[in-house]
Amino acid sequence: MKTSALFSTMLLTAFLSYNAAMANTVSDEDVKTLMKKSACFRCHAENRTKDGPAYRTIAETRRGKPGIEMALYRHVTTAATVPINGRMEDHEPLRTGDEAMARAVVQWILTR
Ligand code: HEC
Repeated sequence: MKTSALFSTMLLTAFLSYNAAMANTVSDEDVKTLMKKSACFRCHAENRTKDGPAYRTIAETRRGKPGIEMALYRHVTTAATVPINGRMEDHEPLRTGDEAMARAVVQWILTR
């Protein structure tokens, strides 16, 4: 029993560091290319407010909050609507099915 709990912990640790390593292999250039392709910069800029908040504002207000990576991961991978000038507009997900890429986008946003 004890041994198997230890083994599960080791597996989980290996899985988490593998994920972190995968995210680390994605460059800022790759992240920006995907975000451009997904039209993210149409409504967001790095340092100033457009129709959507600046990535820096998102980082400064949300960084370090519990569960924020998961919440933003869901936000950038799921179709939703957001209010822009009193109208609901589509918030399209990232144009990728690659989990490591989507995680890297979240990390990029949170480190602006
Ligand atoms: C049509 C304009 C528009 C586009 C395109 C757009 N966004 Fe947004 N985004 C918004 C608005 C507006 C908000 C603020 C929503 C709110 O305050 O309820 C927002 C919020 C966010 C947030 C913060 C969510 C939170 O929980 O605080 C993130 C992260 C984000 N967008 C990332 C992206 C990414 C990545 C893309 C490209 C896949 C993208 N956005 C494309 C308008 C847009």
